[in-house]
Amino acid sequence: MANRVNEQPIESEGQRRDVVLSARDVTVGFGPKVVLDNLNLDIYRGEILGFVGASGTGKSVLMRTVLRLLPRRSGTIKILGQNFDELDEPQRNALDMRLGVLFQQGALFSSLTVKENIQVPMREYLDLPRSLMDELAHLKIRMVGLAADAADKYPSELSGGMIKRAALARALALDPELVFLDEPTSGLDPIGAAEFDELIANLRDSLGLTVYMVTHDLDSLFSVCDRIAVLGKKRVMVEGTIDDMLAYDDPWVQAYFKGKRARSIVPQDSGVRRGVSGK
Ligand SMILES: Nc1ncnc2c1ncn2[C@@H]1O[C@H](COP(=O)(O)OP(=O)(O)O)[C@@H](O)[C@H]1O
Ligand SMILES: [Mg+2]
Repeated sequence: MANRVNEQPIESEGQRRDVVLSARDVTVGFGPKVVLDNLNLDIYRGEILGFVGASGTGKSVLMRTVLRLLPRRSGTIKILGQNFDELDEPQRNALDMRLGVLFQQGALFSSLTVKENIQVPMREYLDLPRSLMDELAHLKIRMVGLAADAADKYPSELSGGMIKRAALARALALDPELVFLDEPTSGLDPIGAAEFDELIANLRDSLGLTVYMVTHDLDSLFSVCDRIAVLGKKRVMVEGTIDDMLAYDDPWVQAYFKGKRARSIVPQDSGVRRGVSGK
Protein backbone atom coordinates (compact mmCIF):
# COMPACT_ATOMS: atom_id res chain seq x y z
CA MET A 1 0.00 0.00 0.00
CA ALA A 2 1.41 3.34 -1.03
CA ASN A 3 2.34 5.93 1.55
CA ARG A 4 -0.36 8.38 0.71
CA VAL A 5 -0.16 11.93 1.93
CA ASN A 6 -2.19 13.05 4.91
CA GLU A 7 -1.45 9.83 6.68
CA GLN A 8 0.77 9.90 9.70
CA PRO A 9 4.50 9.89 8.85
CA ILE A 10 6.05 6.44 8.81
CA GLU A 11 7.52 5.38 12.11
CA SER A 12 11.11 4.22 11.83
CA GLU A 13 12.86 2.58 14.74
CA GLY A 14 10.37 4.21 17.03
CA GLN A 15 11.20 7.66 15.64
CA ARG A 16 8.72 9.76 13.75
CA ARG A 17 10.30 10.76 10.46
CA ASP A 18 11.21 14.40 10.15
CA VAL A 19 9.18 16.13 7.45
CA VAL A 20 11.33 18.82 5.80
CA LEU A 21 8.75 19.97 3.31
CA SER A 22 5.01 19.74 3.53
CA ALA A 23 2.55 21.12 1.00
CA ARG A 24 -1.12 21.10 1.94
CA ASP A 25 -4.03 21.88 -0.34
CA VAL A 26 -1.84 23.89 -2.70
CA THR A 27 -3.67 25.34 -5.68
CA VAL A 28 -1.85 27.19 -8.47
CA GLY A 29 -3.27 28.49 -11.71
CA PHE A 30 -2.71 30.93 -14.53
CA GLY A 31 -5.84 32.85 -15.52
CA PRO A 32 -8.63 30.34 -16.03
CA LYS A 33 -6.21 27.42 -16.09
CA VAL A 34 -5.72 25.49 -12.85
CA VAL A 35 -2.39 23.61 -12.90
CA LEU A 36 -2.27 22.28 -9.34
CA ASP A 37 -5.49 21.64 -7.47
CA ASN A 38 -5.34 21.08 -3.72
CA LEU A 39 -2.05 19.24 -3.96
CA ASN A 40 -0.48 17.55 -0.93
CA LEU A 41 3.11 16.40 -0.63
CA ASP A 42 5.56 15.49 2.14
CA ILE A 43 9.32 15.12 1.86
CA TYR A 44 11.27 13.42 4.63
CA ARG A 45 14.71 14.35 5.88
CA GLY A 46 17.54 12.53 4.19
CA GLU A 47 15.57 11.06 1.34
CA ILE A 48 15.92 11.45 -2.40
CA LEU A 49 12.39 11.97 -3.64
CA GLY A 50 11.87 11.48 -7.36
CA PHE A 51 9.06 13.62 -8.71
CA VAL A 52 7.56 12.47 -12.00
CA GLY A 53 4.60 13.19 -14.21
CA ALA A 54 3.78 13.72 -17.86
CA SER A 55 5.21 16.76 -19.59
CA GLY A 56 3.30 19.93 -18.78
CA THR A 57 1.58 18.56 -15.67
CA GLY A 58 3.11 21.18 -13.37
CA LYS A 59 6.29 19.68 -11.94
CA SER A 60 8.29 22.84 -12.50
CA VAL A 61 5.34 24.98 -11.44
CA LEU A 62 5.20 23.17 -8.10
CA MET A 63 8.92 23.62 -7.56
CA ARG A 64 8.71 27.31 -8.38
CA THR A 65 5.68 27.69 -6.13
CA VAL A 66 7.45 26.02 -3.22
CA LEU A 67 10.34 28.43 -3.76
CA ARG A 68 7.90 31.38 -3.82
CA LEU A 69 8.74 32.26 -7.40
CA LEU A 70 5.11 31.74 -8.38
CA PRO A 71 2.05 32.77 -6.37
CA ARG A 72 -0.40 30.15 -5.19
CA ARG A 73 -4.13 30.63 -4.89
CA SER A 74 -4.46 28.69 -1.69
CA GLY A 75 -2.75 26.19 0.53
CA THR A 76 0.06 26.02 3.05
CA ILE A 77 3.70 25.22 2.45
CA LYS A 78 6.09 24.51 5.29
CA ILE A 79 9.80 24.12 4.68
CA LEU A 80 12.16 22.95 7.41
CA GLY A 81 9.34 23.43 9.87
CA GLN A 82 8.70 27.04 8.91
CA ASN A 83 5.87 28.69 7.04
CA PHE A 84 7.29 31.42 4.79
CA ASP A 85 4.08 33.41 5.03
CA GLU A 86 4.66 33.89 8.74
CA LEU A 87 8.27 35.06 8.44
CA ASP A 88 9.74 38.52 8.14
CA GLU A 89 12.33 39.35 5.51
CA PRO A 90 15.48 38.45 7.50
CA GLN A 91 13.89 35.15 8.54
CA ARG A 92 12.97 34.40 4.92
CA ASN A 93 16.53 35.05 3.82
CA ALA A 94 17.82 32.78 6.55
CA LEU A 95 15.47 30.04 5.37
CA ASP A 96 16.33 30.60 1.70
CA MET A 97 19.96 30.05 2.54
CA ARG A 98 19.14 26.53 3.69
CA LEU A 99 17.76 25.65 0.23
CA GLY A 100 19.73 24.87 -2.93
CA VAL A 101 18.20 24.97 -6.40
CA LEU A 102 19.13 23.68 -9.83
CA PHE A 103 16.60 25.00 -12.35
CA GLN A 104 15.50 23.16 -15.47
CA GLN A 105 16.40 26.06 -17.71
CA GLY A 106 19.26 28.51 -17.42
CA ALA A 107 21.40 26.40 -15.16
CA LEU A 108 24.28 28.89 -15.27
CA PHE A 109 24.86 32.55 -16.15
CA SER A 110 26.69 32.45 -19.48
CA SER A 111 28.62 35.66 -18.85
CA LEU A 112 30.17 34.36 -15.62
CA THR A 113 32.85 31.74 -15.10
CA VAL A 114 32.07 28.60 -13.15
CA LYS A 115 33.70 30.08 -10.07
CA GLU A 116 31.73 33.31 -10.38
CA ASN A 117 28.51 31.35 -10.91
CA ILE A 118 29.11 29.40 -7.71
CA GLN A 119 29.79 32.65 -5.90
CA VAL A 120 26.49 34.26 -6.93
CA PRO A 121 24.57 32.93 -3.89
CA MET A 122 27.52 33.78 -1.64
CA ARG A 123 27.45 37.39 -2.82
CA GLU A 124 23.69 37.51 -2.45
CA TYR A 125 23.49 36.20 1.09
CA LEU A 126 26.91 36.51 2.71
CA ASP A 127 29.57 39.14 3.10
CA LEU A 128 32.78 37.18 2.70
CA PRO A 129 36.28 38.21 1.69
CA ARG A 130 37.18 37.33 -1.87
CA SER A 131 39.89 34.86 -0.89
CA LEU A 132 37.43 32.87 1.23
CA MET A 133 34.81 32.87 -1.55
CA ASP A 134 37.47 31.57 -3.95
CA GLU A 135 38.41 28.84 -1.53
CA LEU A 136 34.78 27.85 -1.06
CA ALA A 137 34.13 27.84 -4.81
CA HIS A 138 37.11 25.55 -5.37
CA LEU A 139 35.87 23.25 -2.64
CA LYS A 140 32.44 22.98 -4.29
CA ILE A 141 34.06 22.38 -7.67
CA ARG A 142 35.97 19.44 -6.23
CA MET A 143 32.89 18.21 -4.43
CA VAL A 144 30.95 17.80 -7.69
CA GLY A 145 33.82 16.05 -9.41
CA LEU A 146 34.99 18.82 -11.72
CA ALA A 147 38.66 19.44 -12.41
CA ALA A 148 40.17 22.48 -10.70
CA ASP A 149 40.71 24.24 -14.02
CA ALA A 150 36.94 24.33 -14.61
CA ALA A 151 36.82 27.25 -12.16
CA ASP A 152 37.82 29.87 -14.70
CA LYS A 153 35.93 28.44 -17.66
CA TYR A 154 32.75 29.90 -19.08
CA PRO A 155 29.66 27.71 -19.57
CA SER A 156 30.20 27.75 -23.36
CA GLU A 157 33.51 25.97 -22.81
CA LEU A 158 31.91 23.11 -20.86
CA SER A 159 30.16 19.89 -21.87
CA GLY A 160 26.54 19.33 -20.88
CA GLY A 161 27.55 17.09 -18.00
CA MET A 162 30.06 19.63 -16.72
CA ILE A 163 27.42 22.37 -16.83
CA LYS A 164 25.08 20.26 -14.72
CA ARG A 165 27.86 19.63 -12.23
CA ALA A 166 28.75 23.31 -12.08
CA ALA A 167 25.08 24.16 -11.56
CA LEU A 168 24.97 21.61 -8.77
CA ALA A 169 28.04 23.21 -7.23
CA ARG A 170 26.20 26.53 -7.28
CA ALA A 171 23.14 24.91 -5.67
CA LEU A 172 25.46 23.65 -2.92
CA ALA A 173 27.24 26.98 -2.49
CA LEU A 174 25.66 27.79 0.87
CA ASP A 175 25.70 24.24 2.27
CA PRO A 176 21.93 23.76 1.96
CA GLU A 177 19.92 21.10 3.78
CA LEU A 178 17.27 20.69 1.11
CA VAL A 179 18.14 20.68 -2.58
CA PHE A 180 15.68 21.08 -5.47
CA LEU A 181 16.79 19.65 -8.80
CA ASP A 182 14.59 20.14 -11.86
CA GLU A 183 15.42 17.45 -14.44
CA PRO A 184 19.15 17.53 -13.68
CA THR A 185 20.01 14.67 -16.03
CA SER A 186 17.92 15.73 -19.02
CA GLY A 187 20.12 16.16 -22.06
CA LEU A 188 22.88 13.96 -20.68
CA ASP A 189 23.86 10.68 -22.28
CA PRO A 190 23.01 7.57 -20.20
CA ILE A 191 26.54 7.27 -18.80
CA GLY A 192 26.72 10.96 -17.91
CA ALA A 193 23.27 10.70 -16.31
CA ALA A 194 24.25 7.61 -14.29
CA GLU A 195 27.39 9.36 -13.06
CA PHE A 196 25.36 12.39 -12.05
CA ASP A 197 22.91 10.17 -10.17
CA GLU A 198 25.77 8.54 -8.34
CA LEU A 199 27.12 11.97 -7.42
CA ILE A 200 23.72 12.99 -6.02
CA ALA A 201 23.51 9.81 -3.94
CA ASN A 202 27.06 10.26 -2.65
CA LEU A 203 26.43 13.89 -1.72
CA ARG A 204 23.22 12.97 0.03
CA ASP A 205 25.13 10.41 2.07
CA SER A 206 28.15 12.59 2.84
CA LEU A 207 26.37 15.91 3.39
CA GLY A 208 23.11 14.60 4.81
CA LEU A 209 21.10 16.34 2.12
CA THR A 210 17.45 15.92 1.39
CA VAL A 211 16.85 15.92 -2.36
CA TYR A 212 13.72 16.78 -4.30
CA MET A 213 14.44 15.71 -7.85
CA VAL A 214 12.10 16.24 -10.76
CA THR A 215 13.10 13.68 -13.35
CA HIS A 216 12.00 11.92 -16.49
CA ASP A 217 14.80 9.48 -16.13
CA LEU A 218 13.61 6.01 -15.19
CA ASP A 219 17.16 4.92 -14.48
CA SER A 220 17.45 7.67 -11.85
CA LEU A 221 14.18 6.63 -10.28
CA PHE A 222 15.25 3.03 -10.00
CA SER A 223 18.82 3.61 -8.95
CA VAL A 224 18.88 6.58 -6.56
CA CYS A 225 15.39 7.60 -5.49
CA ASP A 226 14.17 6.36 -2.12
CA ARG A 227 10.62 7.36 -2.84
CA ILE A 228 8.66 8.57 -5.81
CA ALA A 229 5.78 10.99 -6.13
CA VAL A 230 3.68 11.04 -9.29
CA LEU A 231 1.97 14.23 -10.38
CA GLY A 232 -1.25 13.63 -12.27
CA LYS A 233 -4.78 15.00 -12.33
CA LYS A 234 -3.38 18.23 -10.88
CA ARG A 235 -2.21 16.62 -7.64
CA VAL A 236 0.14 14.02 -6.25
CA MET A 237 -1.65 10.88 -7.36
CA VAL A 238 0.58 8.43 -5.55
CA GLU A 239 3.68 8.54 -3.35
CA GLY A 240 5.81 5.60 -2.34
CA THR A 241 8.44 3.11 -3.37
CA ILE A 242 8.90 1.62 -6.83
CA ASP A 243 6.86 -1.36 -5.64
CA ASP A 244 4.04 0.99 -4.76
CA MET A 245 4.22 2.49 -8.26
CA LEU A 246 4.13 -0.93 -9.89
CA ALA A 247 1.06 -1.83 -7.86
CA TYR A 248 -0.80 1.43 -8.44
CA ASP A 249 -3.83 1.15 -10.65
CA ASP A 250 -3.64 4.11 -13.03
CA PRO A 251 -3.08 3.88 -16.79
CA TRP A 252 -0.32 6.53 -16.90
CA VAL A 253 1.51 5.11 -13.90
CA GLN A 254 1.25 1.60 -15.31
CA ALA A 255 2.44 2.66 -18.75
CA TYR A 256 5.30 4.69 -17.30
CA PHE A 257 6.64 2.16 -14.83
CA LYS A 258 5.82 -0.99 -16.79
CA GLY A 259 6.20 0.26 -20.35
CA LYS A 260 8.77 -0.77 -22.92
CA ARG A 261 11.59 1.33 -21.46
CA ALA A 262 10.85 0.33 -17.89
CA ARG A 263 10.86 -3.40 -18.64
CA SER A 264 14.58 -3.42 -19.25
CA ILE A 265 15.19 -1.81 -15.86
CA VAL A 266 12.64 -3.28 -13.44
CA PRO A 267 14.06 -6.50 -11.99
CA GLN A 268 11.72 -9.48 -12.22
CA ASP A 269 11.09 -9.79 -8.49
CA SER A 270 11.63 -6.09 -7.99
CA GLY A 271 14.87 -6.10 -6.04
CA VAL A 272 14.94 -2.35 -6.37
CA ARG A 273 16.03 0.07 -3.73
CA ARG A 274 13.43 0.50 -1.01
CA GLY A 275 12.35 3.56 0.87
CA VAL A 276 14.72 4.96 3.48
CA SER A 277 12.57 3.51 6.20
CA GLY A 278 13.43 0.08 4.87
CA LYS A 279 9.75 -0.69 4.41
N1 LIG B 1 4.32 31.49 -15.96
C1 LIG B 1 3.36 30.75 -16.54
N2 LIG B 1 2.25 31.36 -17.08
C2 LIG B 1 1.27 30.61 -17.63
N3 LIG B 1 1.28 29.27 -17.72
C3 LIG B 1 2.33 28.63 -17.21
C4 LIG B 1 3.43 29.33 -16.59
N4 LIG B 1 4.35 28.43 -16.17
C5 LIG B 1 3.85 27.22 -16.50
N5 LIG B 1 2.65 27.34 -17.12
C6 LIG B 1 1.80 26.22 -17.58
O1 LIG B 1 1.64 25.32 -16.50
C7 LIG B 1 1.63 23.98 -16.97
C8 LIG B 1 2.68 23.18 -16.23
O2 LIG B 1 3.99 23.60 -16.62
P1 LIG B 1 5.32 22.98 -16.04
O3 LIG B 1 5.26 22.99 -14.58
O4 LIG B 1 6.43 23.71 -16.69
O5 LIG B 1 5.24 21.48 -16.57
P2 LIG B 1 6.28 20.30 -16.31
O6 LIG B 1 5.54 19.27 -15.53
O7 LIG B 1 6.63 19.78 -17.67
O8 LIG B 1 7.46 20.86 -15.58
C9 LIG B 1 1.88 24.05 -18.47
O9 LIG B 1 0.63 23.94 -19.11
C10 LIG B 1 2.48 25.41 -18.66
O10 LIG B 1 2.17 25.89 -19.94
MG1 LIG C 1 9.41 21.15 -16.04
